[in-house]
Amino acid sequence: MLGRAMQAVVPFGVDLRAFSRAELDIVDELGVRPALGSHPDWVINCAAWARVDDAEDHEAEATRINGDAVGLLGKAARDAGSRVMHFSTDYVFDGTLDRPYRETDVPNPQGAYGRGKLAGECALAASECRWNVIRTQWLYGGGHSFARIMWNRARKGLPSRVIDDQWGAPTHVAELATVAWRLVQENANGTWHAAAVGEASWFDVGQKVYEAVGADPTPLSRCSTAEYGSKAPRPANGRLDTSKTGGPRAWDEVLVESVQPDRCGEAGP
Ligand SMILES: NC(=O)c1ccc[n+]([C@@H]2O[C@H](COP(=O)([O-])OP(=O)(O)OC[C@H]3O[C@@H](n4cnc5c(N)ncnc54)[C@H](OP(=O)(O)O)[C@@H]3O)[C@@H](O)[C@H]2O)c1
Repeated sequence: MLGRAMQAVVPFGVDLRAFSRAELDIVDELGVRPALGSHPDWVINCAAWARVDDAEDHEAEATRINGDAVGLLGKAARDAGSRVMHFSTDYVFDGTLDRPYRETDVPNPQGAYGRGKLAGECALAASECRWNVIRTQWLYGGGHSFARIMWNRARKGLPSRVIDDQWGAPTHVAELATVAWRLVQENANGTWHAAAVGEASWFDVGQKVYEAVGADPTPLSRCSTAEYGSKAPRPANGRLDTSKTGGPRAWDEVLVESVQPDRCGEAGP
């Protein structure tokens, strides 16, 4: 999702070369180094193992992509004189704070995906390249996402049981990509939090999608994280403090826009 969004909003004057997974497997150092042969100013890594629940049973495999490969990328970028932009997640936090997480708060991931992503952040910092990491959350836009699942179910009038005790902000990849390109153009270094402004539970997001497509919201019901029983633990408070970055627009405004037929067509947001 994010890789496509970064291509869709590339700023004027930027010469971008994008690789599919088939063209470049980031765990393959022998493929990564030649790909940086032109000494690009920036290497932007949107590749990841993003299947949070599956990571619980495949932690080593997920961490090869989300952790080790990011370190390899950092070393190759250091040798090529390139900066690296990489993306991480609110799942590096344990979710026990009673305020939104700042860049300086101490990570303490509870699940395999979060541990792998934190390993990637650390490997990048240790690689001695110039880097920035953007932590984001609850992405949607042009791919498989919670927003798209809700959109499909709402249009079919299906009942949905949705978690109401995890907090964050659904963030459209186009909005995130715009912030990311701004940070590229500012040659920003270090860690940044970028997520839509405002906060919501998954239930709030589902309800907003049902309303926005004109579906009856009655078939939506609330449940707790424990009742839902996902395989991977997730932070109850995943809210990211975006005051340092200047976050994208408010989550509900963008979500309502993105489910309009002229925006999402038949595929969904
Ligand atoms: N989605 C979210 O809600 C969310 C939340 C917080 C942070 N993030 C982070 O944001 C970034 C972008 O996420 P996204 O939602 O855009 O993910 P996505 O849609 O799942 O895209 C990830 C892409 O990486 C590719 N990939 C996987 N392993 C690879 C490898 N070894 N070499 C090259 N490509 C590989 C995948 O290819 P295949 O499809 O072939 O596997 C997929 O095209 C990731 O760093 C993710 O951890 C995402």
